[in-house]
Amino acid sequence: MKPGSPHRRPLVVANWKMNFTPGEASDFAGRLLALLAKRGPGWIEALDLAIAPAHPALDRLRGALSGSDVQLAAQNLHPAAQGAYTGEVSLAMLEDLGCRFVLIGHSERRHLFGEDDEFIAAKASRLVGSSVRPILCVGETLEEREAGETLDRVTRQLAAVLDATGDGLASQLVVAYEPVWAIGTGRTATPDDAQAVHAEIRKNLIEHFGESGRQTRILYGGSVKPSNVRELLAQPDLDGALVGGARLDPEAFASIALASLEKS
Ligand code: PGA
Repeated sequence: MKPGSPHRRPLVVANWKMNFTPGEASDFAGRLLALLAKRGPGWIEALDLAIAPAHPALDRLRGALSGSDVQLAAQNLHPAAQGAYTGEVSLAMLEDLGCRFVLIGHSERRHLFGEDDEFIAAKASRLVGSSVRPILCVGETLEEREAGETLDRVTRQLAAVLDATGDGLASQLVVAYEPVWAIGTGRTATPDDAQAVHAEIRKNLIEHFGESGRQTRILYGGSVKPSNVRELLAQPDLDGALVGGARLDPEAFASIALASLEKS
């Protein structure tokens, strides 16, 4: 870290997507905690680590992680407080389960389930002042990148949430830049390309929140692996990783998490 630059504690989040039953989730947790224990105590003071399982595994994973510093995240929530929304989960449910983070705006929700910026902003508004931090995912498609529209697209996705929530999420928001063409494809943005987008996000956060925008963590996601995490996180505005594919292997996930300690 350069002298005078703001300290942002790295955050690494595993997005399990629709994988792992509750039983498999607790096996994974046991193996991950054993790997992290080998590192000895103290790592958690320099790093935030969270896992986002499918909703049915949240409670079992909570039990398996209890007493550890690995935090619980959810993959989704509905903007309404409660009511007739078959198949959805509410903020109160996530709070009761002890979730500390929730993904909103993931590209799979945007593209496979038709969630638009307005709906994602409504989810963000629901989270204002709660104990659950949104991890707002933004990112461009391949066509948008090739048409030179990356910064524009990402800025619009971010603005939809910031305009709806004002200063309400200043101390809660986490942003994740995930180029859609890099998710699950094995292709990763180059560290310089990722930094250029993160710098633009940072600029927007500072314009909106003032100086506290320098404290907001901006994660990178899209085919993050043990072999590329170091060079990505060496960039000044990459504050952690949202990990998909590599989350399925406790060894790979632990090694990504521990590599990010070098950032702190
Ligand atoms: P990936 O997924 O690491 O498999 O590319 C990232 C994500 O969807 O968050």
